[in-house]
Amino acid sequence: MIFSRMINRYNTDCLKFDALEEVFGTKDVIPLWVADMDIPAPRSVRRALRRRVHHPIYGYSIHPECFFKSIECWLKDQFDWEIKREWITCTPGIITAFNVAVMTLTEPGDEVIVQPPVYPPFFDAVTDHGRKLVTNPLKYKDGRYFIDFEDLKKKITSKTKMLILCNPHNPVGRVFTREELTELGDICLRNNMTIVSDEIHADIVYKPYQHIPIATISPELAAITISCLAPSKTFNIAGFATSEIIIENKEIREKFRYITKSLHLSHGNVLGNTALIAAYKFGKPWLNRTLKLLKSNIDYVINYCNEHIPSIHIGEPESTFLLWLDFREWGMTHDELTSFLVEKAKLGLSDGIIFGEGGEGFMRMNIGTCRWTLKKAMKQLDKAVRAHKPRS
Ligand SMILES: Cc1ncc(COP(=O)(O)O)c(C=O)c1O
Repeated sequence: MIFSRMINRYNTDCLKFDALEEVFGTKDVIPLWVADMDIPAPRSVRRALRRRVHHPIYGYSIHPECFFKSIECWLKDQFDWEIKREWITCTPGIITAFNVAVMTLTEPGDEVIVQPPVYPPFFDAVTDHGRKLVTNPLKYKDGRYFIDFEDLKKKITSKTKMLILCNPHNPVGRVFTREELTELGDICLRNNMTIVSDEIHADIVYKPYQHIPIATISPELAAITISCLAPSKTFNIAGFATSEIIIENKEIREKFRYITKSLHLSHGNVLGNTALIAAYKFGKPWLNRTLKLLKSNIDYVINYCNEHIPSIHIGEPESTFLLWLDFREWGMTHDELTSFLVEKAKLGLSDGIIFGEGGEGFMRMNIGTCRWTLKKAMKQLDKAVRAHKPRS
């Protein structure tokens, strides 16, 4: 069982564990924040890496034929998506990719739409390059989030050039349906907008939900979409910063590659390439087991809250190893909530506020850890609630 034992990650230059003081002002919190998991990568990946590391020279690498082949096979197998090798551009991570997309496909002063509460680097990718951030907040209804199409249509002007979509959605855990994606895509097509579709969580989806890459919906949508995928969340190998960006439209692809080429971003790195190939070729059984464990962790936290702390509301995620906790019933200010969770419950969660509009009163919890840690975290939270009585 891969989740049965907590592996000590302290002093491994690990952002999640070794930056606690900087992020939370104390080391004394259980780290349930940044989105990587506390579980070992698949054995096949570790074996391939060991084999490569054993060779003592780590010079420049190339992408061998099987690098592209393994991506093509994975996308076909997971999403019945047939891509061509030339559509793939490698980038050192997906944050890089959506920044490059904004820089190469929009002009300063153009408007770019994002749908908060959403992954915070989306905001900076727009504003850091002098583009105008326009928000189309998701609608929250009975614990589930939906796209507000009417609001979206109202926000689009002649200056709106791009929409950055997060699907599956971090932090709210939605996997948008074919109908939702089609309606969204139609609006973008009608308004000559490019879609940057961040699908980094595409493989972590719970039955009966199914991820549909927006580019597979129609040839028209494929022609305006930059799809961003990676093995990083799927196989817990984000540290290798290796992702695949799929762009079918040659003109868009060449514009995108203007920067990836000039900055030499697309070569990958020797270990990242090895990890990607092994993960996509051999990692599927590991992923299936991991999905079961993640789902049981999700059920554990939701059931625990329902039973012991019902004033915390959690919508069941359709994807991701992230829970979006609604604390608004406590009636605390956001600062009070943050201090309560750090100082009294001693939990290091991601602050809802950083996800933009709709994030106040929420916190994101990463459940990609072992059950022992989650049990400890929930007990600490319960004890703090009983001792300090926020409205519950
Ligand atoms: C939606 C989303 N996009 C991108 C990233 C980061 O991608 P990368 O590490 O490949 O830059 C994350 C990480 O949590 C994420 O949740």
